[in-house]
Amino acid sequence: MTPGLILDSYDDGDRNALADTMTVMVRAFDPVFGEAWTLPQLAGVMTMPGTWLTLARVDAAPLGFALIRSVLDECELLLLAVDPLWRGRGIGRSLLVDSLNTARRRGITSMNLEVRATNNAIKLYENIGFEYVHRRPGYYRGNDGKLHDALSFRIDMLI
Ligand SMILES: CC(C)(COP(=O)(O)OP(=O)(O)OC[C@H]1O[C@@H](n2cnc3c(N)ncnc32)[C@H](O)[C@@H]1OP(=O)(O)O)[C@@H](O)C(=O)NCCC(=O)NCCS
Repeated sequence: MTPGLILDSYDDGDRNALADTMTVMVRAFDPVFGEAWTLPQLAGVMTMPGTWLTLARVDAAPLGFALIRSVLDECELLLLAVDPLWRGRGIGRSLLVDSLNTARRRGITSMNLEVRATNNAIKLYENIGFEYVHRRPGYYRGNDGKLHDALSFRIDMLI
């Protein structure tokens, strides 16, 4: 556990929260894969009902975030990211566990996610209990034009 780590959740497009999220976004995603979202994309999804954002901060500095969208009793992990300088300290795991707990409190019974097949985040998902569902060959196209398979995972939660 990272000392002083604070997790704050937002159900709307709070300006400061969006700015803090973008601070992490531009640092966390390797541009070669073209996976980072823009501020308008983020602000747009935050206007959708059932979407929430959790920010991880230490001393008010944003270090990571998780973005979830829910529909009825299902939800999807849209993005999970931690600043490269703060990785390997359990912040990604804390954000994901917190998101699962929030989902449970909201009566949600499953979380789905889709991830590039070469992403190290898969280890984290499997450690937490996500199960592999299926593979979509060549689903993502990187900024360099290369195609990458997508894997989908799912976890069912007991309420
Ligand atoms: C995925 C990510 C959020 C993990 O954040 P993190 O804070 O480093 O994760 P944690 O410290 O909580 O790691 C939890 C587990 O995940 C695994 N893991 C996470 N990142 C890893 C990496 N880069 N290499 C190998 N294993 C990794 C480890 O098995 C670790 O388990 P351990 O605690 O037993 O060692 C972070 O690497 C990241 O921001 N990646 C870029 C953005 C991205 O691709 N997000 C996922 C798709 S949206």
